[in-house]
Amino acid sequence: MADMVNVFFFGKKYSVPADMTVMTAMEYAGYTLKRGCGCRHGFCGACATIYRIKGDNELKTCLACQKQVEDGMYVASIPFFPTDKRAYDINQIKPTQQIMMELYPEIYSCIGCNACTNACTQKLDVMHYIAYAQRGEFEKCAEESFDCVGCGCCSVRCPAGISHPMVGVLARRLTGKYLAPETLHLKDRVEQVNSGAFDELIEQVMQKPITEMKELYNNRDIEK
Ligand code: FES
Repeated sequence: MADMVNVFFFGKKYSVPADMTVMTAMEYAGYTLKRGCGCRHGFCGACATIYRIKGDNELKTCLACQKQVEDGMYVASIPFFPTDKRAYDINQIKPTQQIMMELYPEIYSCIGCNACTNACTQKLDVMHYIAYAQRGEFEKCAEESFDCVGCGCCSVRCPAGISHPMVGVLARRLTGKYLAPETLHLKDRVEQVNSGAFDELIEQVMQKPITEMKELYNNRDIEK
């Protein structure tokens, strides 16, 4: 018999195996997850969830597919954490400090509470990458925010109303389009793909059974 813990989903108590994640425990308890569930492996950010532990007032955030259940855990998932993406055309803007001021002026209202960093499900230094964005240091902001999955747990805790993931996206887009050196080998390869140089090969791969495809993928050459 597996070790069991008591958890509360939407206020109702359930006894679930202690080694389950919040997501699998919800399914074990009988919930069918239609929203707030995507890749199940910590990459898509769809399963952002809030919880607290009995006797502790602190409201915590996690990815339900990654967080193991704990005894006395009160869980409430919401369909999504709204972030505010401003409209812009990446071809019409330039990587100046001014553009952050225009599109995301609230980043200059940051009070340095670090709630965003504490809430980050990827353990990123969110407040730090916002500081880079404030100074127009987009390459550093892009690097520091690179592993963001856009779950929005940081934004929901921010007293200044900053949509941190969207600021990171803008910095990475500006970096990719205007600041990072051009990758000529990638450009050449895209041209080769577009000219049909690999059409036959791709067709052959598509005809293979899935196990063989996986084998090919797992043993592919990886550029250093
Ligand atoms: S389901 Fe994709 S991060 Fe959890």
